[in-house]
Amino acid sequence: MGRKRSDKIVFDNVKVLDAGAKGVSVAKAPDGKVIFIPNVVPGDVVDIQTFKKRKSYYEGKAINIHEYSEHRIDPVCSHFGSCGGCKWQKMKYSQQLFYKNQEVYNNLKRIGKIELPDFEPILGSEKQFFYRNKMEFSFSNSRWMTEEEIQSGKEIDNANALGFHIPKMWDKILDITHCSLQEDPSNAIRNEIRDFANKNGLTFFNPRNHEGLLRTLMIRTASTGEIMVLIQFFEDDKEKRELILDFLAERFPQITSLQYVINSKANDTLYDQDIKLYKGRDYILEEMEGLKFSINAKSFYQTNSDQAFELYKITREFAGLTGNELVYDLYTGTGTIAQFVSKKAKKVVGVEAVPEAIADAKENAKRNNITNCEFFVGDMKVVFNEEFISTHGKPDVIITDPPRDGMHKDVVEQILKIAPEKVVYVSCNSATQARDLALMDEKYKVTRVRPVDMFPQTHHVENVVLLEKR
Ligand SMILES: C[S@@+](CC[C@H](N)C(=O)[O-])C[C@H]1O[C@@H](n2cnc3c(N)ncnc32)[C@H](O)[C@@H]1O
Repeated sequence: MGRKRSDKIVFDNVKVLDAGAKGVSVAKAPDGKVIFIPNVVPGDVVDIQTFKKRKSYYEGKAINIHEYSEHRIDPVCSHFGSCGGCKWQKMKYSQQLFYKNQEVYNNLKRIGKIELPDFEPILGSEKQFFYRNKMEFSFSNSRWMTEEEIQSGKEIDNANALGFHIPKMWDKILDITHCSLQEDPSNAIRNEIRDFANKNGLTFFNPRNHEGLLRTLMIRTASTGEIMVLIQFFEDDKEKRELILDFLAERFPQITSLQYVINSKANDTLYDQDIKLYKGRDYILEEMEGLKFSINAKSFYQTNSDQAFELYKITREFAGLTGNELVYDLYTGTGTIAQFVSKKAKKVVGVEAVPEAIADAKENAKRNNITNCEFFVGDMKVVFNEEFISTHGKPDVIITDPPRDGMHKDVVEQILKIAPEKVVYVSCNSATQARDLALMDEKYKVTRVRPVDMFPQTHHVENVVLLEKR
């Protein structure tokens, strides 16, 4: 049973049983309650100190490891443990896929409570590192000190950092020297900006007092080799701004699009900001199956380009188009799925809430000489109504790819009302997908399910479901 240390309980020799939601592992306490613990792998045997007690569960951390799970591997990243980014790096990729698949299955079964076909095997990502095409880093003069640094007792003469937020600490940034998520020159660009800024006395953002020159850095890369770099400044200082932008342009002539923003707002989101082009063009081009997609600083584009291609191929296959169908692509973003399936459809109608994304979708379709796609802006639950359907026609197939919250119930109702033969539901959150599938169960049978991993080393998983009319 548990020993007591102050008001915290310690459970000895507990086997970690499962990897649960949000990437946290699960064990069972001797009293039968569940314990959630981060940074361990199912199969490990550990001593656990709890720091939170709830009615049905504890939250705790491993304070001692007795046995290492056979599913463990050494994390490749030197920042692992401090950085919250790749929580599953300690677990073999085959096991990551196993738990992702299980999460989807459990959600569809327990939340959806629907009849399910056998799952098609989860599609792993060929690239398990360096798969992201977009990274965002923050500057801060309040660097997160690692345990080792604190233990070393060394005096800190420079607290500047350029990297990631420490989970749950809005003002602390972990300085990142090497990140294995985005291909080079991503690391070189970030590191050289930091060094140049330090050498030249350019100030890093102070998140408490709201002062400093440098605020955030975004790097986007594309399979075409094109690169976008955007620096967000807090202070408007032309001389210093140009100093660092000129340095970047000269040091990395391969940057296709060099942009900046001066943002003195409280938050650092770019979406309401006036983005300025410094050098090159204001977009980069991504390419997929001969289609070109322009991506500007504000555009949404699937973060793992190679795996997006796989996801779209599965979506298109599930849709089973013959060339005669009217397809609706709900939550179309920049119209990528719509254009991807357009060759196999009579016409595709894309709907999306963000006007800039729809402007991109139209421009991309034009660039790709696609004439059978039409795009419309609006909140789905408002736009997708009787009038819209009588204007654009009753779809034979609906493809839907909503955000994490899933579809609004009015949208689900509308789908049920018009009842197309097939619905292909792409989701990045199988819990909300399960809820929606349950609502559709009266009219639709789930006939195919295939999870797809877009984000190795994390617990996130995408899922594609085919629904066919009963
Ligand atoms: C998961 S993304 C899908 C994007 C696209 N299918 C792709 O693969 O690039 C979800 C999209 O839904 C849009 N969205 C979110 N809420 C919406 C709403 N209420 N009405 C319409 N679109 C919405 C977002 O802007 C985003 O582009």
